[in-house]
Amino acid sequence: MKFEQAHRLENLHPSGTRVVFSKCGQLAREGIKVTALTVGQPDYDTPKYIVEACKKALDAGYTRYTDGDGIPELKKAVCAKLEKENGLHYEPAEISVTTGVAQAMFVALMSTLNPGDEVLVPDPVYLTYNEIPNIAGAVVKAYDLLEENNYQVDVDQIRSLVTDKTKMIVIVSPSNPTGGVLGMESLQAIAAIAKEHDLIVLSDEIYDHFVYDDEQQLVSIASLPDMKERCIVLNGFSKSMAMTGWRLGYIAAPVNMIEPMNRLSFYMTAGATTFVQYAGVTALEEEDGSIERMRQEFKRRRDYLVAEINKMKNFSCQMPEGAFYIFMNIKKTGMTAADFCNYAIDKYRLAMIPGSAFGKNGEGYARLSYASSMEVLKDAVDLLHKLDAEF
Ligand SMILES: Cc1ncc(COP(=O)(O)O)c(C=O)c1O
Repeated sequence: MKFEQAHRLENLHPSGTRVVFSKCGQLAREGIKVTALTVGQPDYDTPKYIVEACKKALDAGYTRYTDGDGIPELKKAVCAKLEKENGLHYEPAEISVTTGVAQAMFVALMSTLNPGDEVLVPDPVYLTYNEIPNIAGAVVKAYDLLEENNYQVDVDQIRSLVTDKTKMIVIVSPSNPTGGVLGMESLQAIAAIAKEHDLIVLSDEIYDHFVYDDEQQLVSIASLPDMKERCIVLNGFSKSMAMTGWRLGYIAAPVNMIEPMNRLSFYMTAGATTFVQYAGVTALEEEDGSIERMRQEFKRRRDYLVAEINKMKNFSCQMPEGAFYIFMNIKKTGMTAADFCNYAIDKYRLAMIPGSAFGKNGEGYARLSYASSMEVLKDAVDLLHKLDAEF
């Protein structure tokens, strides 16, 4: 049989993180210890009260199909969360429950973008936003988020990128991979451009609980005046509830946008896992302080790692305001990000993700996740000091 992949996948690239992950896997199989700052997930177990709620849901027989767009209880609980924490008023009909934010991103992009549409995407950014528009035949235009600009937007650049084909602006704040948080000025500028040119704003808020300024809560761009009608807000349970393996997320958007998303979603999964959705209701309604405990601990780890990195000769970083990543500047080494990360894992068994995996502006950076234990971070710092001494 002659097999050829579908043409629509020709521009879908494998994840740039795979080289590091496959190397880590290979070393682990050989019994070699690797100090890994690679994974984008909390090192915490899912809080007990959520696990118990899932067991109860199973015992109660919640094992059958549900509505494709989510059980009403969860959609109501999501509305309450958005109202209380983000100042956003949504009705349950404006919520679509998904299998992780991964599916939310796919559905939101695929049901919105047409061939030839242009979408403005941050550089660097979580890989999906550079890849999925390609399947839709849309054109990604990158806007810069630079260290020297504290990872805020350059408004003039965004304006210069808008054409009559531009359909959407994507924002990811707090950001994977930089940890940057868009300030009010950036949000207002994006909102103004979106309104002026009648654009959709897709806002990925999966790290909304991990903002480290104690005085600051994440401001959702959808909460700015007249923005809700043009915003697609994505969020989920993976990061703040330490539930990456449960695969639960959601989309909040006006009904005219949610309806086609629900239609597409139905043909993909026919709904998120039923007992996981029930556990999600408890996760939101009976939150037991785990999020704040995790946030405080991540803040402690961030402060430690940033201070250590900035003592080094060749490496430096900004104080990231959110998520759980440090985007470490390695430009003084003169190496490419990929070579640097390969060298670190080959010689020191220290695994980091090359910034170039997240876009051209990631060249010269390595992404370090501090969602790892303090013990792992201390080992990593020792190894980084050794690495630093080589240049
Ligand atoms: C910005 C961003 N959005 C979405 C996701 C995917 O989330 P989920 O695990 O819920 O599919 C990730 C995961 O790393 C992420 O960093």
